Amino acid sequence: NSQSNQFCEAGIGYGEVGCGLSSSTKLLIKGGTVVNAHHQEVADVYVEDGIIVAVKPDLKVTDDVKVIDATGKFVMPGGIDPHTHLAMEFMGTETIDDFFSGQAAALAGGTTMHIDFVIPVNGSLIAGLESYEEKAKKSCMDYGFHMAITKFDDSVSRDMEIMVKEKGINSFKFFLAYKGSLMVNDELLLEGLKRCKSLGALAMVHAENGDAVFEGQKRMIQLGITGPEGHALSRPPLLEGEATARAIRLAGFVNTPLYVVHVMSIDAMEEIAKARKSGQRVVGEPVVSGLVLDDSGLWDSDFATASKFVMSPPIRAAGHNKVLQGALSNGVLQLVGTDHCVFNSTQKAFGIDDFRKIPNGVNGIEERMHLVWDTMVESGQISINDFVRVTSTECARVFNIYPRKGAIIAGSDADIIILNPNSSFEINARSHHSRTDTNVYEGRRGKVEVTIAGGRVVWENNELKVVPGSGKYIEMPPFNYLFSGIDKADASYLSSLNAPVKRSKSTT
Ligand code: URP
Ligand code: ZN
Ligand code: ZN
Ligand code: ZN
Repeated sequence: NSQSNQFCEAGIGYGEVGCGLSSSTKLLIKGGTVVNAHHQEVADVYVEDGIIVAVKPDLKVTDDVKVIDATGKFVMPGGIDPHTHLAMEFMGTETIDDFFSGQAAALAGGTTMHIDFVIPVNGSLIAGLESYEEKAKKSCMDYGFHMAITKFDDSVSRDMEIMVKEKGINSFKFFLAYKGSLMVNDELLLEGLKRCKSLGALAMVHAENGDAVFEGQKRMIQLGITGPEGHALSRPPLLEGEATARAIRLAGFVNTPLYVVHVMSIDAMEEIAKARKSGQRVVGEPVVSGLVLDDSGLWDSDFATASKFVMSPPIRAAGHNKVLQGALSNGVLQLVGTDHCVFNSTQKAFGIDDFRKIPNGVNGIEERMHLVWDTMVESGQISINDFVRVTSTECARVFNIYPRKGAIIAGSDADIIILNPNSSFEINARSHHSRTDTNVYEGRRGKVEVTIAGGRVVWENNELKVVPGSGKYIEMPPFNYLFSGIDKADASYLSSLNAPVKRSKSTT
């Protein structure tokens, strides 16, 4: 029909975008093992109009229902990537995956929702949001927004309230790095933390000491180290540990929950572990690159190879990754993102003579589900239920959209993947769906076979059927579970101060 032709047209440029979208809005996934974060069972999943209607063994359906056989496979909630940068203007250029190509890649890898970071325009949150609403019009899967805070004054404070109460944004990110562009100082961070607390919004931090990074970069250049390895050498784990500790302590001082993005080092992880042990509400997000890679690629003699690994905080020396995996398996870290932020080799080459000019960022939106499975489940470090928790359910809880997202239960959105534990394919830059021409996970293996987004089969038999404009904006309400009880703790703190010391006037 004419509508599916139109969809096909829009897919030109994507080798695997197919024709013949099913008009059926009814779907039965038969005989798979349905896995949720706290339960699994062999059952059928029946979907109608984008919603899961029933999860039960041996469901009977009529002929007009499309049936997918999942016998011997795992049926799980679609992945939710809490950390992406699509169509972001950054370091003098723009990430090469936009809201269509990045989401198409995500869907091909079993991720059915992502949360992207709105960057204010000249400090204006409203202008920033408008710009991202425009970028997101071509979306082919569901998405939400965090917002970065890059300055603070009365108008920013007012606009934060508008974002939370009217625009569906429940998290704000503070960059403690990128001196001279996105970085905020402690005074601004404190104001921001207080405002987040009053709005029930989650404060997020990019934790590296930007002033010290600036110093570290000068040191490298003075030593004549200008290549990609200089990036890692200029911003060691020490600086990530310092900023993580500082942000945690300031959030503790304000008594508001904190979310630390891209935890890349043992140093940062240990600060989170210590805070959580003391009862502080800190969420730690490792990203796939930090979990599975090490910094060896940065020393590659080929610039294109080395520069593709440049991201901030840097991918660390071998050993950090294994410890981060352990922290994810024992719950010190809770959910996995990607920080998908891709530049092609031409863009990376802006820094061929100076690592400070290499646009920062690696791929991962398409590979996250595969690699968390491969690295964490296949190695026996986490259970299949925990796989669902760290790739989907916990993200839905933290950003307050559970159980609409993050679960396979009646009433939830029909964002579903089928993973085949007994077959796999190779990941590489030639067959991936991102627009970038390199892949930091070259040669790794993947197992997600089918992706269903909003009740539509969008990835099956290595074929992508995506529709620009079909993605929905998911509004995320404030006051997630991390806020419950905060008021009681504040009240008991205040009452502990309620007995001013009585001192008699001196008479001598
Ligand atoms: O290198 C990175 N991570 N680029 C994206 C921006 C950020 O810091 O998250
Ligand atoms: Zn076609
Ligand atoms: Zn960051
Ligand atoms: Zn990021």
